[in-house]
Amino acid sequence: MALRQMDSLPVEEGTRVLVRVDFNVPLAEDGTVADDTRIRESLSTINRLRERGARVILMSHLGRPHGRPDPKLSLLPAARRLQEILGSPVTFVPATVGHEAEAAVAAAGPGDVLVLENLRFDPREEQNDANFARALADLGDVYVNDAFGSAHRAHASTEAVAHLLPAAAGDLLVRELWALDDILGRPDRPYWVVVGGAKVSDKIGLLKALMPRADGMVVGGGMANTFLAAAGKSMGASRVEPDAVTAAAALMNDADRLGCPIVLPVDVVVTTEFAAEAAARVTGVDSIAEGEMALDIGPQSIRAIEAALRDARTVFWNGPMGVFEWDRFREGTDAVARILAGLDARVVVGGGDSVSAVNQTGLQDRLTHISTGGGAALEFLEGRALPGVEALQMADE
Ligand code: 3PG
Repeated sequence: MALRQMDSLPVEEGTRVLVRVDFNVPLAEDGTVADDTRIRESLSTINRLRERGARVILMSHLGRPHGRPDPKLSLLPAARRLQEILGSPVTFVPATVGHEAEAAVAAAGPGDVLVLENLRFDPREEQNDANFARALADLGDVYVNDAFGSAHRAHASTEAVAHLLPAAAGDLLVRELWALDDILGRPDRPYWVVVGGAKVSDKIGLLKALMPRADGMVVGGGMANTFLAAAGKSMGASRVEPDAVTAAAALMNDADRLGCPIVLPVDVVVTTEFAAEAAARVTGVDSIAEGEMALDIGPQSIRAIEAALRDARTVFWNGPMGVFEWDRFREGTDAVARILAGLDARVVVGGGDSVSAVNQTGLQDRLTHISTGGGAALEFLEGRALPGVEALQMADE
């Protein structure tokens, strides 16, 4: 992949480097950053630019404010967290473009770091608007895209702006593309895909695209309910996506045809109430009672997953096996993390929830790569072009 990298950009003392990061991080109820993985993963780019004396102007979105300012989605908490991690001042600019942003950049010195306000407070960001991109470009001399998590979006800060300044990929973006390209193109075999999470409809494209390439798939989490329903099981009060049952049945047929086994749960943890402290029991998938809903996979399913993955040499994991945010329903997800951490295999984890789940187990260092991308990682592995990356390649020609 011919991507221009940061080192080739003309950066010297005082150069204004406009950097698109993905600081779309989860916030805790008190408004502080709940998981700073994405911020930490940007440090290499930020620090290397500072070492070269750049003025580093960071821009990102946070959440989906739909073009209107929303104080609850300000990037101020992310700027504060970055300041704590760097141990040196970070200037938060409560504007994205215009006089206030320009004045803040003009006042900055070599090595200084600024964080602009949430780009999506302006509707022109998501419209990939040329004037908004021009106003962003006016803040910098060169542009670096390090926002792998947003590379599947063709927005002003990820796409249009890349055509207006000398542009290059940041370290995180390059790391992500290398790691994912490896399993897209040259997976050591057997190659297994483990998917979970709530919705099948979000993952149909991914499953279809990966099935001919994978040697087997594990399907767990809420989305397994729809597969089990398609296989004729009575799922009680479990969440099943009626519109996706036919697609799930078709995927299982394709899997048979392609000789790609799909491992579905054989037992589940059920409850009658969707609540953290609800009483729960383990049952086989053939005996879920009418009012019961499955919120995690059971111990036999965990053993079946362990057996299926034993010889795997490459695994991609996306999506938790249950409602892992609640202790009572997190064992399936924790167990999968433990199983993957114990394999002699290249293991790549992608998707916000699975990343939080892995981080909570403390096993992250024993996995090959944890992607900061959710949708971006999935689209990349489906073989789709990422506009943020394409724009850098075009800029390089
Ligand atoms: C993500 O979290 O996947 C990225 O930050 C993109 O966010 P979006 O889905 O709101 O565009």
